Formats: sequence, C-alpha cells, structure tokens
Amino acid sequence: MGTRLHVNLKRVLGTRNPMIYGHFIEHFHRQIYGGVYDPGNSLSDESGLRMDVLDAMRKIRVPVLRWPGGCFVSSYHWKYGVGKERIPMYDKAWAVEDPNTFGTDEYVDMCRKIGCEPYICANAGTGTPEEISDWVEYCNLKQEGQFAKWRIANGHEAPHQVKYWSIGNENWGEWELGAKTAEEWGYFVRETGKMIKHVDKDTELTAAALPDLDWNTQLLRIGGKFLDWISIHQYWDPINGTNDFASYEQVMAYTNLTENGIREVRGLLTAMRLEKKIKIAFDEWNLRGWYHPDATKRGPGETREDYVKLRDKNDINSLYTMADALFTACFLNTCNRNCDIVGMANFAPIVNTRGCIFTYPDGIVLRSTYHVFDLYVNCLGDVILDSWEEDAGYMTVRNRAGELEETAELDILATAFQDKPGVAIAIVNKNASFEKELALCFDDDSVKEGATVVLHYICGDSTEAYNDIGHEGVPLCKENLGTYRKGMKIILKPHMVGVLQIGVES
Ligand code: AHR
Repeated sequence: MGTRLHVNLKRVLGTRNPMIYGHFIEHFHRQIYGGVYDPGNSLSDESGLRMDVLDAMRKIRVPVLRWPGGCFVSSYHWKYGVGKERIPMYDKAWAVEDPNTFGTDEYVDMCRKIGCEPYICANAGTGTPEEISDWVEYCNLKQEGQFAKWRIANGHEAPHQVKYWSIGNENWGEWELGAKTAEEWGYFVRETGKMIKHVDKDTELTAAALPDLDWNTQLLRIGGKFLDWISIHQYWDPINGTNDFASYEQVMAYTNLTENGIREVRGLLTAMRLEKKIKIAFDEWNLRGWYHPDATKRGPGETREDYVKLRDKNDINSLYTMADALFTACFLNTCNRNCDIVGMANFAPIVNTRGCIFTYPDGIVLRSTYHVFDLYVNCLGDVILDSWEEDAGYMTVRNRAGELEETAELDILATAFQDKPGVAIAIVNKNASFEKELALCFDDDSVKEGATVVLHYICGDSTEAYNDIGHEGVPLCKENLGTYRKGMKIILKPHMVGVLQIGVES
C-alpha cells in the first residue's frame, strides 16, 4: 500500500507573501558585469541590460531583488555609483576593481523593467548611519535636500520609492569588513533606523542577524523599535573554498535542515513577544556556498588574476543537478509552511555564480533550480493548507559527515488559491531510484469528482541531470492525468519536483 495524502481545505495555515520567491544579485564575479549588465552585447537593451535575462526574470515573476551585496556592500560607497562621472572603486571585499558604471539608478531602472520591488542592502561595515540615510534621501525624497536634487540632476525627476532597506550584511561575521560586536550592532542599527525613519517613515527596515541569542537579543532590545524584519542567511553545502559539491544522497540529508534557522529565530522573536511585529527575511539562501577561495590566503606565487579566475568554477553548469532542484523545492516548501513568520526569502544569487540563470555572450541557460521557481510561482497557490501523509515512506541516506540519517521520501505542500477554485500540491520525491505511489484523500468534498488533474514537473533522466548550452537534461514537463476520482492514485517519478493541479483553470 502506498502513501495516502490527506488534505482538508478548511485547515488553512496562512497566505504566503509573494516575496518568499524573491532573489538576490551581488557585485560578485559575473552576476552584474557580464551577467545581467552587458553593454554592447546585441542581446542588451539601450541601457545595457540583457533582455533575455530580464525576460527570464519576468517569467518567474521576481517579486523583490536584493542588491548590491552581500560582502561587497560592506565597503561600498553609493555616491561613487551615481551621476555623470563614475569613479571606479577597489572592491575590498572581493579584491577586484568595480567600474561603478552600474549603480543605484541603473539598479532601480532594472527593477522597474523586471516589475519587482527594489531592496537595497546598505553599507554598515565602513559606512555610517548618515551615509545610509543620505542614500534613502537620494532614492525617496521628492526634491528636498542635496541628494534628492542630485537624483533629479542625474535625470530621475521622480523618487525611486525604494521601500525595503537592510542595515548591513552579516556584520556579525569576522570575514565581513567593518564587522561589529553585538553591543555595537544594536546601537548602530538604532541610530541608522532613527535617521532613515526621519527621512522616510514608510520604509521597511531589516538588519543583519543570524540564529544567535546574544546577537539578536542585543539587536532587538536596542534597535528593534525601528525594525520590520530580521535578516538571516544560510548556505547548506559549505564549499566556498573547495567547490567540492555534496552528492545527491548527501543533499537529501541536507533537506532535514531547511527549517533549523527559521525555528530558532521564531523562538527568539516569540520569547521577546515580537513575532507579530517582526518577520523573517531569509534574504540570502542557496544549497551551495559560492566558490571564492579566501582572498587573504593566496597560494605561493598565486597572482590576483589567478585566484579571481578560480571563480569561473562557479560556472560549471553540469554541477547544478536534480539535487539542487529538490533541495530548492524543499526549502520553498519550508518557507511556505512558515508563512506566518517568513515574509521574504532571496535566492542567492539569481544570475550566474550558483544562480538559476546562467549567462554567456550568445544566450542563457536555465539551470534546474530555475524550473522550480517557475513551477512554484506559476502553478502553486498562495493559500497554504495543512496536510499529512499516512504511511509516509522514509529512506536512509549518508550525510556529508558520513553519518546515516533518515529522511522522508516525500516533501509535500498543499495549497489553494485566493482568486480561483482548485488545489495545487507541490510534491518532491527524493527517492533516487524508485517511483512512489500517492493516493489523494481530500477530507471533505471540496474537490469535485471529474475535476481535471495535471502534473507539471521536472525529474531529468537521472539524479545527475542538468542543463547547459546546447544540452537540456532537465526539461519542464506536463502530464494530463485525467479527471479526479476519490482516492485517486498518482505515480511520482524518482528524483522529481512537481506541482499537481486539480480543478485549476489554466
Ligand atoms: O559567498 C557569498 C557571500 O556569502 C555573500 O557575499 C555574503 O553575504 C555571504 O556571506
């Protein structure tokens, strides 16, 4: 007997914020320059933005795009990146020169073309509360003061209306330029939040945080009155210095860890009675850590060019397989289940590095993870339903530390729609080898017999399937499964991410 999925449309967990399908782009390697911003390429528009990349972003309806960093931002001074005269800066975080030809105005223009909310992460490393609030003046004041007038002089009469701002990026980390102690951080956030709110009270602010009691209690006790969000980050496969990808089996073990950070921060917010005031912005996440050998520890004789060139190893498309897709789906399921407290999540990054869109001079590659966002954004509902699996199957996997772990074979999220009938169920089958049978049991008669049943999915022909230039190993598939009958059983292919739509108008 297979697994039976029980869904009751009356047991609603919540409605997800569209921003949990958000993204991040940083001035690192080829994300901006040679990525989305490629002046002179015939595929770019008059402002130098790759039209094929923008199209792909629009197709997955990017709701919010965090920029410009990441570690980059902790020594970035925004004023060098606006106006007629752009002064190249030495990017101390990534040890390269940034031409500053892509700055605030180009970024906001890109967001308007994508149709997404801009979300600026500001320099709380070497920057000051005043430099950050000057940035808000530049973006959001109509004409008051020198910075709004500067924006107008730069050709942008109307305010940019940037609503989301982050104070800092990982300022708790010893690697971060301008890192701070928990005590320093609380006061820095308070003073910055105060100044920003004096410029534009309608902004929503977050600050760099992590699932750490001391850091967060200081931050929230001292600066919490100005915060609407608290930011956390996670990369589960820590391959920043090795590029040695965890195997499919090891990644399935990682799927047991998608909720840890959320659970810890939820507990802290609840203990401080802030869980109704402050939401979690998981504003950097990816299964894979970015590959960038430590800039301060060059090997003997290794030139700057040598170790910067190593970053090209992020561009090996065959490494981004069904493991990445299944993990991404499991994490998005986790965010949806916690939609009462997770309001935003930003895939890090969207273009190149570990992103879901890979660019090359003549086109783009949609990596396996891109299709997960396509399935979730375009096929899944926004009303999150409670569901449970009877006789759920488990499988034993060996994690990265070599230990055996149990993990559920299926990861399922049931949803309905606010604006139309029907049910959509995200289903992940982690089993690498075997099909799974799933019987559908709706605990009331809300799903009518005879409703159409369609499965949109990706699975590839193996766990190692990938997409690359001229190679589509992970196509997006669709299968009509007839009409719904009570207790209907469907077959789930191995290593599959799918969205089952029942009675959903296409
Ligand atoms: O590896 C990329 C870095 O990861 C981002 O710049 C930073 O925010 C995080 O530590």
